[in-house]
Formats: sequence, structure tokens, C-alpha cells
Amino acid sequence: MIYVKDNLFALHTENVSYVFRVTDTLHLEHLHFGGKITLDGDSIPALMEKREFLNGNLNAYDREHGTLSLENYLLEMSAYGKGDIREPFVDIIYADGSSTSDFLYDGYKVLHEKSEYDTLPGSYSDYGRSEQLILYLKERYSDIVMELHYYVYERCDVICRSTKLRNESMQAVTLKRLMSAQVDFDDSDYIFTHFNGAWIREMNRVDNTVTAGRFVNASYTGTSSSRANPFVMLSRRETSQNFGECYGFNLIYSGNHYEAVDVGSFSKLRFVNGINPQGFSYTVGPGERFEAPESVMSYSDKGFNGLSGNMHEFVREHIVRGTWKYKERPVLLNSWEAAYFDINEEKLLRLAKAGAEVGVELFVVDDGWFGERNDDTSSLGDWKASEKKLPGGIRGIADKVKALGLKFGIWVEPEMVNVNSRLYEMHPEWVVDIPGRTHSEGRNQRILDMVNKDVQNYVIETMSRLISSADISYVKWDMNRTFTDYYSKCLPPERQGEMAHRYVVGLYHCMKTLTGRFPDILFEGCASGGNRFDLGILCYFPQIWASDNTDAMCRARIQEGYSYGYPMLALGAHVSACPNRQTLRNTPLWTRFNVAAFALCGYECNLCEMSEEELEEVKEQIDIYKEWRSVLQFGDFYRYDENGAGYVSWTCVGRDKRYAAGLLLQGLAQPNMPDKRFVARGLRPDAKYHFYNIKFKIRSDSGNMQADTETEDYHVYGDVLMNSGVRLSQGFAATGYNERVRVFPDFASRIYFMEEE
Ligand code: DGJ
Repeated sequence: MIYVKDNLFALHTENVSYVFRVTDTLHLEHLHFGGKITLDGDSIPALMEKREFLNGNLNAYDREHGTLSLENYLLEMSAYGKGDIREPFVDIIYADGSSTSDFLYDGYKVLHEKSEYDTLPGSYSDYGRSEQLILYLKERYSDIVMELHYYVYERCDVICRSTKLRNESMQAVTLKRLMSAQVDFDDSDYIFTHFNGAWIREMNRVDNTVTAGRFVNASYTGTSSSRANPFVMLSRRETSQNFGECYGFNLIYSGNHYEAVDVGSFSKLRFVNGINPQGFSYTVGPGERFEAPESVMSYSDKGFNGLSGNMHEFVREHIVRGTWKYKERPVLLNSWEAAYFDINEEKLLRLAKAGAEVGVELFVVDDGWFGERNDDTSSLGDWKASEKKLPGGIRGIADKVKALGLKFGIWVEPEMVNVNSRLYEMHPEWVVDIPGRTHSEGRNQRILDMVNKDVQNYVIETMSRLISSADISYVKWDMNRTFTDYYSKCLPPERQGEMAHRYVVGLYHCMKTLTGRFPDILFEGCASGGNRFDLGILCYFPQIWASDNTDAMCRARIQEGYSYGYPMLALGAHVSACPNRQTLRNTPLWTRFNVAAFALCGYECNLCEMSEEELEEVKEQIDIYKEWRSVLQFGDFYRYDENGAGYVSWTCVGRDKRYAAGLLLQGLAQPNMPDKRFVARGLRPDAKYHFYNIKFKIRSDSGNMQADTETEDYHVYGDVLMNSGVRLSQGFAATGYNERVRVFPDFASRIYFMEEE
């Protein structure tokens, strides 16, 4: 709900309020972002900052307002030059070379619809009415207008912000930065959590305390990046999974992003997020406008689980769209880890047939099917099937896969080209490089300049032809290198600072056109795994391959990292072979499944090399997943930390709370350990549930020890499962084994199901 009274603006969701006001000087004073508050006209005096004198050597805003210093004020947006020396929201160079801005309030509008962006994807609402507040600010000495947009999503306690800038003057200005959101906090006693990583090591949670100065989480890879995901949190020291205050921020953007925390001299903490100003500058000519990506903000006093619940609901409801929004995702079998580049029709069909026999629904031919592609040195750009490998072309293999009762999917990497390709021979000028300089190579490939309209049209038309050439149901859109040598030959020298952003805009244009043309295709984003895992991609592609690491133990940590900001509905997760290709670790087949089952479960291994016994297990797993996937894919996901170091414990609760699934996973086994509990989250306290585990055989590697899993079978109320938890069977401790003991060797795991009775 949006409430406007005199000079007070309040945005209320079910549990959260966001409040600011217009000051006498026409600045926007930020008053509150947190738990819901009741406001009336009398509230402002209590909420506003009191200023009777100027502290020390602060600069006064102007002569008339001798006690106001912008350096020590909670602001809704800020600029350099009028006293505020903290991290700015906007930085503009004017035609006269000056860079002081003073944006002042110039009116507002409340709309019951969301503004469409010209160039960028944004959140949306299916519920019908959505509320938007637009604040107009005008720069005091120039005709530059800034619009601050606020979108309120009541049910998930999310408020989105974005910024648009219009140049109504007669001269061009240069934008050095335009952030998407700024939130000023009274004190600095917060932990700043960000998710750092690398290829096959995505989403490590890192907690930092910033007591003074600045801390920046940013990407400069040209993508949202596996090095630093744009989702970040601010929480109190005492915040845990279920208790305490927590703020979450994300950006609907797939390029270079920036999230900064700045603690100034008066211990106020400022958070900003937006496009990374590093290497960025943008000329906004007379009559032109620039729009910053949308920022997503949420608050919960129910700990990290509360916050991630808000973010999950927001992504499911207001980011993911189209045919696949509410549609169950198929169990797929991908050829990559099964055969890498060494594929041919016969081999692929054998694999697909083995998949069909165990219940796979979609067969995906990954890299290696086109041109002369036998390794990563050639053919990107030549999207025509290799006659040697696929004599009947894509159509031929797609038809044969379909005849096995499976849907067919294909891998592409449309934004890239190998120098060793026909496309490069024809259009060397289409790549991102700096004329006359040597180019830094990544995975032996170059990036096509998506700023170039001809390149955009080539991508759209080539992909359209490919997708229409056969009965294709799924497309994996990969992107396997980071940017170097930023440069677009389509832009004049003085506009090269626009290149990285314009690339992302060009990419979105292609994604929007293709998903519009092929609304029923299931697109899965990918960038060497999680190098472009963000809300911008999810506005077009309903799911993203989360990591090239398929080791169950690493995956549990990676998936848990994503779960803070993203719903499981967005994450591709595959069961692969052991020893695992990335870690050389052996984990039980059931553990590989148990972890993948808590996201979009698929398989990526050579089923033809599996034993009869293993194939039976895979079949059973797929049957279980199909039965439970509406819960596991669309459900609410909770983390539980209290099982001790080395343990992972999750609950996923179906939307109607009638069904839930739980996971208990351990790392290296220790003998004679304390007993374990399984504690659920998110159930209906007054509903009675049947709690039980999946039974399977536990095999040692040498096969000389076999045990049946213990039985857990209880009929208890939701409040018992959540407040007490189930005390699980005693764990094996070198002695006293019988069939009621929980045999839990290294990397063991169990799935528990809960069904309302
Ligand atoms: C990187 C992806 O993340 C992998 O899954 C696979 O598709 C390879 N690229 C193929 O080159």
C-alpha cells in the first residue's frame, strides 16, 4: 500500500514499511525501512533527524540552512558536491565540466500499473493491480530530471526501486554512475553478507563487518559473475536462520554490478546497488534518457529463512514468467558429462534409450554437435550439425529421440565465436576486440559484439532457424567466457564507456525476441555454470544451470548458497557419475540424487555404463522425484543450521503445506557421534503429518558391506516436527549394529517425507 500525506511517503507491505519525507530544502530524508509501523501526520516530528547546530567542520548545505549538513543525514538519494562525501547515488559531469549535482523534489505520482522499461527487464505482477510511486527530482541548476520509481509487492514484503534520468537541457551530460537503490541506516552494527566464488566453486557465503570505510561487492567480468553474485544481505550479529533482522538486496541485471556499504564519520551505514561504475560512462544527449536496472529490497525479522522466503516468493511470482512459470520441469538427461565432445548419433541414441528406460523425460545434446567441434578450439558460430556425427542433422536425431518417447533439447552458445569458424572468416569485425591490439583469449573463443544490431539480428535469426528446424522443446543457452578488451566498433571513442551496458541491453533484446517467438520452449541459462546467475536472466529463462560442479557435497553447499536469494525452481542440478569429474570424490548414488532432488533434478552421466542395480536405483529415484516434484520445485525452502558442523539440513514445504520433504546430509563421518534430530520448518503446526524416510540399500565401494536403511515412521503434529523435531535412529558407532541403526558413512544422506493425514 502506498500512503502519501503532505510531504510524507510511506510504502507498506504485509510486514514491512519503507518511509521517507520531503525536507524544507526539498531533499528526501529517509525515515524508516524495517518492520511495519503505523503513521499519521503526527509521526514526522518523531522520525525526522534533529539539527540545532552543525557538527564540527561539516559543510552547511547553504547559508539559509546553516545547521543542515548532507554528510550527516539519512537520504533517499545523494550526490557529490553539496556536503555529502559518502558513496554517491548519482555522479554526473555537466557540459561546463562541473560535477556537483543537487537534485530537489519536484512532485510525485502514484500509478496502479508498472512502468515498462525501454531496454531492461523488470519485475511484474500477475495479481492484476500493482502499485507504483514515482518521485520526480530536478537538478537545481540544470534541466536534468531524475525519476525514482518504487514498486510495492505486499505479499512477499518486497519493494523494488529503479531510477530513470531524462536530459531536458540543450547540452549533453556524462553519467559516471546512476545507482538503482540507496538505503541509509542509522547505525553500522550490521553484518554484510555476500556470495563469492569462482568456476565450479560458486556461492560461498562470506560475512563481513564494516565498522568504518567502504566495502564493495562487484563484478567486472561483463556478467553478473560467479565471483560475486549481486544478491547480498545486511543482518544483525545475532541474526540466525530463524530469528533476527535481515535485509536482502538484489539487482535485475546480468552485467557488471556493484553493491557498496559505506560507513561514514557518524557511523551511519549507506547501502547502494546498481551498475558497476568501473569503466562505465554514458552520454545522455538533449532529449535522451537513461534507465538504471531495478533493485529488489526486502526485510524480515524472522532470520535468513524469513528473508529468503520473501525472495523466493518474489522470484517465483514477479520475475519468472510465461509458459513455465507454474509448469513442472521435466527430468532431463544431458550428454555433457556422459561423453563431452565425443558424441555421434549412435552413442547419443544409446544414451537416450537408456534414459527412456529409467524414466527420463527430456534428452539434451550438449556441446559438440555442430561444425568441426571436437574440442573447444573451433566452430562456435557455425550452428549447423556435423554431418559426420549427426548424418540426419538435428532433425534426424530429434525425431529418433522423440520416437523413444522423449522430448529433445539442444545446447547453444550464441554470443560466441571461435576464430576457427566460418562465421569469423565472414565477420571478423563482429567480435569484441580493440583494433590494432592483441586480444586476451578465454576458452579459445571471442565474444560477439551484442551492441551491434547486425549481430543481434544474426543471433535472433540463426537461433530461430535452428529451433524451428526440428521438434525442439528445450534450449540450453551457454556463455563460457568473461570479458576482456572491452570495445565496440559500433560506438565512437567517447562512448566506449557504454559498451558493457549496451552489450547486456543487446542480449536482453535477443532473449526477449526469441522467448517471445518460442514461448513454449524451456530455456535454461548457463555461463560456465553460475557465471550469470541473476534475476535479469530469470526474467526470460525460467531456470539456470547453477554450477559445472556436480559433486554432491560441493553441490549441497552451492545450492544452499543460492537458496538465500533464489528459489529452487531456478536451479538446475544433475546427478553425475563417480568418481566425480570435478573433485574425483565418490559419493553414494542416493546422496547424489538426494541433493539434486531439492532443485530441478536431472541426470548427466553415462547411464550405459551403469550396473543393473544402479539403473534400478536411478529408476526408483526418478519415480520418487516425479511424485514429489511439485513440492520440491515449487515449495518453500528452509535451512537448518543446528545439526552441527559438517551437516546439511533442509526442509522444502509444498505451497499448501500438506506435503514436505527434508534432507539430512553429512560430510566426513566421525564415529560415536551425538544423536541427531530432524527439525522441520514451515509446516502447519496443527496438522498431523506422517513422517517417514525413503528406504534403500547402503553399499560400500567394495560391495562387501550392505545394509538396509533404518526405518523412521511417525505420526506427529507439525508443531512437534518444528519445535521438537524427530529424534532419529541411533547412528552406527562401531558396535551394536542392527537393522534399526542409522548407518551413516562418509557423505551419507536421507530424505524424509512428511504427508498430512
Ligand atoms: C559449460 C557448461 O556449464 C557445461 O554444462 C557444458 O555445457 C559446457 N559448457 C559445454 O562446453
